[in-house]
Amino acid sequence: MTTADPQSGQPAWRLLLSYIRPHRGALAAGALLSLLTGAAGLLLPLVARELIDDLAHDRAITGALLAMSGLVVGNTALGALGSYVLRRTAESVVLGARRSLSSYLLRLRVAAVDRTEPGDLMARITSDTTLLREVTTDSLIGLGTGGLTLVATLVMMGVVDPVLLGVTLAVVVGAGTVLGLIVPRINRASRQAQDAVGVMGAALERTLGALRTVKASGAEPREERALHEAAEESWRQSVRAAKWSAAAGNTAGLAMQLAFITVLAVGGARVATGAIDVGTLVAFLLFVFYLMAPIQQVVGAVTQYQTGRAALARIQDALHLPAEPAARPAPLPSPGAEPASVAFRDVRFRYADDLPYIHHGVTFEVPARGMTAFVGPSGAGKTTVFSLIERFYDPGSGEIALDGRSLAEWELPALRAAIGYVEQDAPVLSGSLRDNLLLGNPQADEADVAAVLKTTRLDGLVARLPNGLETLVGHRGTKLSGGERQRVAVARALLRHPRLLLLDEATSQLDAVNEAALRDTVAEVARTTTVLVVAHRLSTVTTADRIVVMDAGRVRAVGTHRELVTADPLYAELAATQFLAASD
Ligand SMILES: Nc1ncnc2c1ncn2[C@@H]1O[C@H](COP(=O)(O)OP(=O)(O)OP(=O)(O)O)[C@@H](O)[C@H]1O
Ligand SMILES: [Mg+2]
Repeated sequence: MTTADPQSGQPAWRLLLSYIRPHRGALAAGALLSLLTGAAGLLLPLVARELIDDLAHDRAITGALLAMSGLVVGNTALGALGSYVLRRTAESVVLGARRSLSSYLLRLRVAAVDRTEPGDLMARITSDTTLLREVTTDSLIGLGTGGLTLVATLVMMGVVDPVLLGVTLAVVVGAGTVLGLIVPRINRASRQAQDAVGVMGAALERTLGALRTVKASGAEPREERALHEAAEESWRQSVRAAKWSAAAGNTAGLAMQLAFITVLAVGGARVATGAIDVGTLVAFLLFVFYLMAPIQQVVGAVTQYQTGRAALARIQDALHLPAEPAARPAPLPSPGAEPASVAFRDVRFRYADDLPYIHHGVTFEVPARGMTAFVGPSGAGKTTVFSLIERFYDPGSGEIALDGRSLAEWELPALRAAIGYVEQDAPVLSGSLRDNLLLGNPQADEADVAAVLKTTRLDGLVARLPNGLETLVGHRGTKLSGGERQRVAVARALLRHPRLLLLDEATSQLDAVNEAALRDTVAEVARTTTVLVVAHRLSTVTTADRIVVMDAGRVRAVGTHRELVTADPLYAELAATQFLAASD
């Protein structure tokens, strides 16, 4: 996706306009102030002509001097106000882009995120949006005000002397042709530079996200090399863009010098023949001088826009990733709500079109209430069953139903509100212990939290910690032990009082005492809720009301422990080796 064609879909400027539209009033005000600044500047040569005229005719110059001073001071004040308003608007445009992009990224489909690098997506929100600031101020305003000032200056020049204007225009058009060749190169280099920043973000995220593994593997030098390579690529491309931008800027500068010299020569000749007087030549030269700023502005705007366009294209690519529909959050079920039933009917599923099928027609039914255990060899597709129930992915064919209603008919927030999910690797987010517990149910009251802490045996830990529930757990909960993380994840799910609890047991994280406690908790919960548990321990399996045996994406058998040990050879083997080995 990093190489996607920036031309795909709508043009980049459309997206920019959509970000700018809410601020068009402020932007117009800023542009107007800049224009007034330009206009005030334009009056200066005329006053200068008066002044020279006054001097030539031995008149007092106080009036002209005062007018000039007033113009200069007014010009400065207007200029300052204008640039403040514009910068502020530009920041608002960046804010708008960041808000809409971050909302969108949170709604991305899990399948879409599987195919991207989170670090690269991060770079799009942080680094690429920043580039919109310059596009809004320098580029858009530069083009607007610079363009208008340019036209106004040219008109004034035409009024003063059309012949000299023709000379100036010839030089300007020549320079414009050269610029037309340079500009696309700036765009290409900018895009590659930003892509490299994205690669760097991805590499950083990869390394910092698993720093212990990197250190334990002695892989620092290799990770370092990858980071440096991305940084250097960004440098190379930015330098390339800088080279072409410099060439563009200096082409404009050179054109103006040429125009100045040519006007001086041709104008001098015209003064000699008496076609114009010295005052007119001086005024025209001042206009040429004043032309410099708007031309630099327009050229700067065009080159700057190339960087912005590259960033916009990257933002646009992110906005083209498939996302879940925006929906209002749904309320959590009330604690006494009816438990949910689950049914899979001939579900076939693969993670992507170019990957092999993981589920080859999975069928099972789980009634409301009670505990159902899923067992099977590693890779059988047990966790995938849970991902499908949460609708992180949609099945290729077949049907999944909750409460007898197809998942496709559920509003996503309502579906997920009914479910409490404890993932296999029990993720804990950085922040406080309380943040983590309340993540799934911010409204849970203190009594509820205390009760859940007790059932998950976290009360001892909380009592030991000097800051109790406010203790920060570190990035991904690194300050907690593996078993503590797991219990936090269970407590978080329980606090939601789900109608369906999905519990993906980790193979071995808990000691015997905590395991027994958790088993009791889950058994207790199963009396009022539907519990699906991917089981890796005999103790879990024996307490289950029914067991679904999965192998290679199919359901082999369903029954109780007692039935399956005699009826299903795979189950008997699992029970004899995997479970028994892990229990007393
Ligand atoms: N996001 C994904 N993208 C592509 N393939 C995946 C993804 N997640 C899992 N798989 C593949 O799907 C298959 C089933 O995975 P799943 O996690 O459901 O297995 P499991 O039965 O839970 O195994 P375990 O007992 O080891 O947890 C595996 O072969 C795995 O490689
Ligand atoms: Mg699994």
